[in-house]
Amino acid sequence: MVININLNPTVPPLPNITDKKNVDVRYILVSPYVTAHLYWNKEISELVYEIEEPVLQENEKEALEKLERAMLELININVAVEKNLEATTSYIDKTARLLIDELNMKISSETYEKIFYYLFRDFIGLNEIDPVLRDYFVEDIECNGIDTPVYIIHRIYRNMRTNIRYTDMEKLASFVEKLAQRTGRYISYAQPLLDGTLPDGSRVNATYTKDVTSKGPTFTIRKFTKIPWTPTQLIGFHNVSPEMLAYFWMLLQYKSNILIAGGTASGKTTLLNALAFFIPPEARVVSLEDTREINLPRENWLPAVARPAVGLSKGGEIDLFAILKNSFRQNPDYLIVGEIRGKEAFVLFQGMASGHASLSTMHADSVDTLIRRLQTPPIELSPTLVNTLDCVAIMTHATMGQKETRRLREIVEIVNVDKDGTAVVSTPFTWNAANDSFYFKKQSKVFEKISIRYGIPVIKLQKEMMTRTKLLYELYKRKIFGFTEVEEIINNYYKNPVQVLADFNIEE
Ligand SMILES: Nc1ncnc2c1ncn2[C@@H]1O[C@H](COP(=O)(O)OP(=O)(O)OP(=O)(O)O)[C@@H](O)[C@H]1O
Ligand SMILES: [Mg+2]
Repeated sequence: MVININLNPTVPPLPNITDKKNVDVRYILVSPYVTAHLYWNKEISELVYEIEEPVLQENEKEALEKLERAMLELININVAVEKNLEATTSYIDKTARLLIDELNMKISSETYEKIFYYLFRDFIGLNEIDPVLRDYFVEDIECNGIDTPVYIIHRIYRNMRTNIRYTDMEKLASFVEKLAQRTGRYISYAQPLLDGTLPDGSRVNATYTKDVTSKGPTFTIRKFTKIPWTPTQLIGFHNVSPEMLAYFWMLLQYKSNILIAGGTASGKTTLLNALAFFIPPEARVVSLEDTREINLPRENWLPAVARPAVGLSKGGEIDLFAILKNSFRQNPDYLIVGEIRGKEAFVLFQGMASGHASLSTMHADSVDTLIRRLQTPPIELSPTLVNTLDCVAIMTHATMGQKETRRLREIVEIVNVDKDGTAVVSTPFTWNAANDSFYFKKQSKVFEKISIRYGIPVIKLQKEMMTRTKLLYELYKRKIFGFTEVEEIINNYYKNPVQVLADFNIEE
């Protein structure tokens, strides 16, 4: 029997529900073992987040405990962690089977599958909260001690209590030690505070003693999503066309302002990260976000993360608005804001009006909605400020065959926003769902702006865009997908385009 475990099941679109009482959704976290069930619990009048794991019978529980004990004696957890996942998974599998043999345990293959999941979870993963950590929609996990539910912050439904609860002080303490170990730090009664980073980039805060907090050890984890996809990977997934990327490359080089819009989990942040590859290597970039997701392929970069008033930092809240204002002191060439939601948009647009280029995302399904939302509370920008926006890329969910995927549905340029707030737009790029193709329909109005600002003829900009299209397509054809490889080629292109084109046999 082959063990089959998929830690990255596809992220489904979740309905945005205004009345929390109607929430009732389920999705897979670890296929085929674990699902999350989110629903309104009438008895407590609260939204709950329930992890549904394989159910073990009494005798199965005993078998699992026996195996875990034996395994603990045998393997060094640190060795097992964070190497290659496939290798560690098969290592756990082999060791478990060996022990079952040695201990002469009778275990059916059905039971073994379930037990394997728990071994995997507890040895490779982070125990009870492991599936929660793997949930794309979870931003924050918070445990305030024993005998109280672990809470999460969900991207869509916000604060929710989970069905995870630590009841044993010792067990929670040893879990916090494990967290510390994974961050490469040390926590003890003498040093009871932990502030560290997990291997995947998530931030951990924890306390160890009973004195610091009343209910025993506590922890808060702010999640960090994975390594970003590169522009060529997005071409590979057919999320965008090479022309679209080359267009953004031109816009970014000439300091334009780009906003990525779309629904929840439509791939906005993914696209933002990929576009950041096109920012000139020597430019100074400041990024700001609520949850750490942005990971830029560059050195000249100052990342900042807003601090929420949760867990230990209660009272120490620093919001996006505050850090955004502060960031202008660092005089960035480019400002990247993970997601704009409220009053920070005002600071961002002022920055754009005074010549800082910007790249950010915002939740909106269409340009009309977006333009309206920018001009109504809580954002309330003047039409003049909205005018500083050059273009909006709209991401969307798409189901192709059986597969759930993402597409860049259209790129809309803001030509002018009138005094009454209505916008004149132009749509150079569109995606046609019927045949799943991208079209470059019209000339770019933003190129005209760039042409005036920089004194470069539009035709030259167009030609350059076509050259870059060829280059990106060639990189994709040669399967150059890696983060550092792609970064290097784009940076080299900025410094010595002729050489790079020659390297890839591209004629201008
Ligand atoms: N082309 C794609 N194909 C499949 N999955 C994708 C694709 N692009 C993004 N995803 C996945 O979808 C999830 C959401 O992506 P991302 O965070 O970029 O979306 P978002 O629009 O920024 O979401 P949010 O509304 O939460 O900010 C991620 O897990 C990401 O890996
Ligand atoms: Mg996002």
